[in-house]
Amino acid sequence: MCGIVGIIGEKPVAARLVDALKRLEYRGYDSAGVATIHDGQLDRRRAEGKLANLEGRLSAEPLAGNIGIAHTRWATHGVPNETNAHPHFVEGVAVVHNGIIENFSELREALTHEGAVFLSQTDTEVVAHLVAKYLREGMTPRDAMLTTCNRIKGAFALAVMLRDEPDMLMATRSGPPLAVGYGKGEMFLGSDAIALAPFTNEVTYLVDGDCAFVTKSGLEIVDLKGNPLHREKQISQATAYLVDKGNHRHFMEKEIYEQPEVISHALANYVNFADKTVGEKAQALDFKSLTGLAVTACGTAYLAGLVGKYWFERYARLPVEIDVASEFRYREMPLSPSQAALVISQSGETADTLASLRYCKELGLKLGAIVNVRESTIARESDAVFPIMAGPEIGVASTKAFTCQLAVLASLAIAAGKARGHIDRAREREMVRHLAEMPRIMSNVLNLVQPQIENLARELSKCPDVLYLGRGTSFPLAMEGALKLKEISYIHAEGYAAGELKHGPIALIDEKMPVIVIAPYDRFFEKTVSNMQEVAARGGRIIFITDEAGAAASSLSTMASIVLPNVDEIIAPMIFSLPIQLLAYHTAVFMGTDVDQPRNLAKSVTVE
Ligand code: G6P
Repeated sequence: MCGIVGIIGEKPVAARLVDALKRLEYRGYDSAGVATIHDGQLDRRRAEGKLANLEGRLSAEPLAGNIGIAHTRWATHGVPNETNAHPHFVEGVAVVHNGIIENFSELREALTHEGAVFLSQTDTEVVAHLVAKYLREGMTPRDAMLTTCNRIKGAFALAVMLRDEPDMLMATRSGPPLAVGYGKGEMFLGSDAIALAPFTNEVTYLVDGDCAFVTKSGLEIVDLKGNPLHREKQISQATAYLVDKGNHRHFMEKEIYEQPEVISHALANYVNFADKTVGEKAQALDFKSLTGLAVTACGTAYLAGLVGKYWFERYARLPVEIDVASEFRYREMPLSPSQAALVISQSGETADTLASLRYCKELGLKLGAIVNVRESTIARESDAVFPIMAGPEIGVASTKAFTCQLAVLASLAIAAGKARGHIDRAREREMVRHLAEMPRIMSNVLNLVQPQIENLARELSKCPDVLYLGRGTSFPLAMEGALKLKEISYIHAEGYAAGELKHGPIALIDEKMPVIVIAPYDRFFEKTVSNMQEVAARGGRIIFITDEAGAAASSLSTMASIVLPNVDEIIAPMIFSLPIQLLAYHTAVFMGTDVDQPRNLAKSVTVE
């Protein structure tokens, strides 16, 4: 989604603002802009498309000034063109905005009635008009900002700069995240700490309803009535990570190859490798007394949750209700305080997931959150936080966050099984031992399958449609495989429960249609092979992702078989994720798409 940056200090800001925007590119955007104040003049450069276009504008016509705001825009209201790009200017007021102003139509109508002329199609422009109007009416900048914030409705983060107040940036947050960073003689604003990492690791996260007035020497935060508030300064973890591609062509590739390492961090947080037990952190929810779990998430995180459902129900006999957050939040499902909510979100900021969490809170459920960003809103609003320790994930298509979410879910399911008396000490030891083997196995598998997958991807890149099939925990994996492929290669792909093949998708099968079957040699294997036979009988081209035992047990002729080592069922979903991710990645590379920032997608979806 949109990214916001601001700097106020004693050195020129334009180039540094653009550098900070680059660190927000991963959020997804389709235009960008920067504005500064210099010698009493407010000026801006904006460009459609990638930041390179904005840099081109800036090198042709540089912007001076020691105060500025900048923005990457992911279009919601109005097409992604230069006119709709932020910052928006009205009479010396400059605004950048992330989120949606829900009552913008009525505000626009009222302002137009009073004589305002709108130049863009955005909802953002009403904010600039409102602030300008209140200043014209004689309000102080602070009152104009507060009055504006009280008139707009929706989920938004805003940074506002005034030509006639070149010593102050104003900001507010009600929904999407916004952080204030502290430098030496300089202060910063950023949508997250990653944007601010090169400047500072000292940050204050604004809370919903905060209004911040930032000068180069400090920060004042008030509520929407103007009452002063105190917010702690924190040391951000974001600076600990270098956000670059290393030796890889894309962040996605780097993140796929990081998995053996980060998954060990994820596991180390929840299991004790030495005595092969699940640790205290995996027991932060009182699994023993729960009557059920309500799990919700979006996108890839939702598919991780679906795998988790199989585990909680099988290993802990704990019933799980799960739905995508955009449905969950409106289903008005009856939940009771004897259940716990478990939300899963890489960013911790996804609007629908956050709303679902708040719905569960209202119903009195204990709240658990599996997140990557520990300082995120979802983490802050939860009773128990389960960080996945994956480090910043920059590729829009989630890879390492998915497998780390699975690792955490597996640890929690074992903890739940133990607490509820369904996993004894011997079984716990055995399961934890399998988890502990995972980083090594992942590393071997990545090396093992890479050359074969590159060849297969060349074939796949010629296909218009691909079907993925799986049973048990391989069913959510089939959906994840299809999601990954369509997200980054734009090939139409569907993930189906293998047993559902006969109920529809079998009609699509012909000699051109690749069918990727994910089938470790588990208790469903024979059944999945029967479904494969149905595909083969209709000439479908099968890509069989199995393990050594599965390859030995099946004599079906396939277009290709990707054979992984035999692994225990508790780690199979993580291990089988790897060929699926690589297949999508290499197919997209062959097709020449923008792998890290696929069209129309955003990394962090902070609007409904
Ligand atoms: C977007 C991203 C997905 C992600 C989903 C949920 O759609 O492109 O990769 O799975 O949001 O995001 P979250 O941060 O809540 O996990």
